[in-house]
Amino acid sequence: MKETGKATLTYGDGKSVEFPTYGGSHGPDVIDIRKLYAQTGMFTYDPGFLSTASCNSTITFIDGDKGELLYRGYPIEQLAAKCDFLDVCHLLLFGDLPDATQRKDFVSRVTNHTMVHEQMQFFLRGFRRDAHPMSVMTGLIGALSAFYPDSINLHDAKQREISAIRLIAKLPTLTAMAYKYTVGQPLIYPRNDLSYSANFMRMMFAVPAEEYKVNEVLVRALDRIFILHADHEQNASTSTVRLCASSGTNPFAAIAAGVACLWGPAHGGANEAALNMLYDIQKNGGVEKIGEFIAQVKDKNSSVRLMGFGHRVYKNYDPRAKLMRETCHEVLNELGLGNDPLFKLAMALEKIALEDDYFVQRKLYPNVDFYSGIVQKAIGIPVPLFTAIFALARTVGWIAQLNEMIADPEYKIGRPRQLYTGAARRDVKR
Ligand code: CMC
Repeated sequence: MKETGKATLTYGDGKSVEFPTYGGSHGPDVIDIRKLYAQTGMFTYDPGFLSTASCNSTITFIDGDKGELLYRGYPIEQLAAKCDFLDVCHLLLFGDLPDATQRKDFVSRVTNHTMVHEQMQFFLRGFRRDAHPMSVMTGLIGALSAFYPDSINLHDAKQREISAIRLIAKLPTLTAMAYKYTVGQPLIYPRNDLSYSANFMRMMFAVPAEEYKVNEVLVRALDRIFILHADHEQNASTSTVRLCASSGTNPFAAIAAGVACLWGPAHGGANEAALNMLYDIQKNGGVEKIGEFIAQVKDKNSSVRLMGFGHRVYKNYDPRAKLMRETCHEVLNELGLGNDPLFKLAMALEKIALEDDYFVQRKLYPNVDFYSGIVQKAIGIPVPLFTAIFALARTVGWIAQLNEMIADPEYKIGRPRQLYTGAARRDVKR
């Protein structure tokens, strides 16, 4: 962070205070208002954090106007083409892509932590079989702190690293467990001779009665979904993880809080909502009815939104959506589903929305969730599990952000202030 100048605030009867401004490597400068309250007795007011940088970070950069996404400086397009998910995990956690020795060591560490405590399956059995996978995931991940109490001290860097490896390694196992439980199939143990994503596919789709054949195209598609969802700077769930961990709670509890936040339809739940929206349009007449649907979306009296469209930061095509669109083609071709009606419907909907004034004026473009649902469905992942897949992938980003916060000497417990507009002080009349 380097000082770039001063900003002057004039308030009251001509009083003024000066604040330093800072610049980073990319993106807008910030005004450091940490002394605002001490100097003026006033707070800033910014619900939804539309203009507030809550931290400085070296992990991810988004240029929403250009539609650019960088992890540790590397463009997402290059990472998606040249790296696998574990390379990206290493990059996010430790700051750079691994060399051959670092990669071997990192892959081996993650691979050796893929099993979960056997007792966890009894904990899993306490859930109803029809429980939403995200309720199971928040429970299971929160419970990791009870199963691995030797890595819960947030202020011990070694323990934080062990919990990071455990979380990255065990999330696929837990997600597959949550799925197998809902369909009543036997749980499949991890196989450490398979890649991270192939192992996950096998735990999801293998059954003990048959040999499971890994399909490399589908594995690569899933790996790409993981890469594209691995981090996205200070979004709602990441900010939740930071705020939660700022109290000094344990890493498993903080990640469980992130999972809970991600569940919402305006965030990670959007891929599930986008696919359900496509199903609904298809059920009600398909491509022919897109016009009617778009009219509903534009009607301010309806609460209908075009799910998978729009983003707080991207005011251009989400670069992840472009890559996911490409992957969508590959997967559907591989599975002989090139004429899949749902995919055709999505393409038609995208085309119409991109040409419509309502969306153009508001800079509403497809986001990653518009296509990731179709890809996941084609791979065989059931719709209610989509957000759990997102959580699996985002876990590494959450941990990297949490580590960055704890290592920052200026870190403090997060404590926003408020503008109180409730009843003025009054007495109880009794
Ligand atoms: N469909 C229709 N209108 C929309 C949409 C949409 N998907 N998104 C925004 N708008 C309109 C909104 O009604 C408002 O119009 P007006 O100015 O006339 O009142 C304007 O665009 C600005 O919207 P906003 O709600 O102020 O924007 P926001 O930055 O608060 O919301 C968002 C961002 C992602 C929550 C929103 O675009 C949305 O609800 N999208 C659908 C859900 C979705 O796909 N979410 C996934 C986000 S990407 C994955 C992730 O990173 O989690």
